[in-house]
Amino acid sequence: MNLEGKRILIIITGGIAAYKMNTAVRGFIKEGAEVKVILTPAAKDFVTPLTLSVLSRNEVLWDLSSSSGTWNNHVELALWSDAILVAPCTANTLSKMVHGACDNLAMAVYMSAKCPVFIAPAMDLDMYRHPSTRQNIQRAQDFGHILIPAEEGELASGLHGEGRMAEPEHLIETVRQYFESKDFIKNMAGKKVLITAGPTYEAIDPVRFIGNHSSGKMGFALAEEAAKRGADVILISGPSHEKIKGNHIQLIRVTSAKEMFQEVFRYFSGIDMAIASAAVADYAPKEVAAEKIKKDGDSMTIELVKNPDILKTMGEQKKKQFLIGFALETQNEEAHAKEKLHRKNLDMIVLNSLRDSGAGFQTDTNRIRIFTESQEKEFPIKPKSAVAADILDFAVAQMAK
Ligand code: CTP
Repeated sequence: MNLEGKRILIIITGGIAAYKMNTAVRGFIKEGAEVKVILTPAAKDFVTPLTLSVLSRNEVLWDLSSSSGTWNNHVELALWSDAILVAPCTANTLSKMVHGACDNLAMAVYMSAKCPVFIAPAMDLDMYRHPSTRQNIQRAQDFGHILIPAEEGELASGLHGEGRMAEPEHLIETVRQYFESKDFIKNMAGKKVLITAGPTYEAIDPVRFIGNHSSGKMGFALAEEAAKRGADVILISGPSHEKIKGNHIQLIRVTSAKEMFQEVFRYFSGIDMAIASAAVADYAPKEVAAEKIKKDGDSMTIELVKNPDILKTMGEQKKKQFLIGFALETQNEEAHAKEKLHRKNLDMIVLNSLRDSGAGFQTDTNRIRIFTESQEKEFPIKPKSAVAADILDFAVAQMAK
């Protein structure tokens, strides 16, 4: 597949690598893309708007208003774009992007955009290695932006090292591959999906809790995959270090099972699909001590009471909702999973066994089996992002039946 009809907005910032962007613009046009170019004020010292305008077949812009006094509508430009490529991206522009500084047309367009953003940094090796640059790159990736890393080689300063902007062919290839993988049918467009994720913490006193080892990775991967497919996602997560990547995900952080229960049922009636991937504590301390419990004697007893079963309650209340549960088992896996499928009135259950290495809590991979009333399917071990795709492929096919 090429980039036929894709609208690529290229932001060129003031770095020496800007000279490569004439070739990049020409390459995007050759691939069938429509291209618009915005320069930061500093970029004009490195490239000429006239050349870029001829190559891109569009007016090149750099100011919020043009010389004739008309306004360059940054919102329109942002909405026009299927993708934004910031190349070369200087340390200065990178910093503005992740801190929300908005002092030129390029930044105003960037901040108004909803499309994927690609960043190809270019700077001297010490700047590239600087902790502030590292942090800013990490932040940009946390926003869901796609990094096209700088390469190693001869730098304009005469030094040799990492910091050279990726070659134009590499920029084009990265954007092309992105659309190739994302252009699969947005088969969850318009669907409202609720996902529970992570552990729950049940307070004992102000400093202690009962929790579990769930990382939340599987739930976050499912949220990202559903959002990529066009779904509107509500992700209700217990304490997890995972961060959200991508748009169209409303993240609600909770601590305890009761809070998770409350949040889930604020939204449940309006959703099309629910996926319960959270490892919810089955029991919570009956009393939460107001003050830190001091040690006293050789043993202590904490009375626990049952938490509400969030998924089972969803099963009782479900009308149109497609319900997916998880089962994490250590023995008689299949029998336990099928029993939960019935008891909780689910449409589908995903089983992972703690006996499989690479499956379960804290890992980046998972190995699953899926059961419905009439079907079962086994999958090989895969990264959690690919497992999320398998789960949603299966679910979408079931829902269509
Ligand atoms: N679940 C839930 N609320 C709870 C407990 C579990 O929503 N209070 C959900 C989990 O998110 C998961 C599924 O139920 O999707 C299975 O959880 P599990 O704890 O294994 O099932 P239980 O019914 O509690 O069975 P057991 O603890 O006996 O294995």
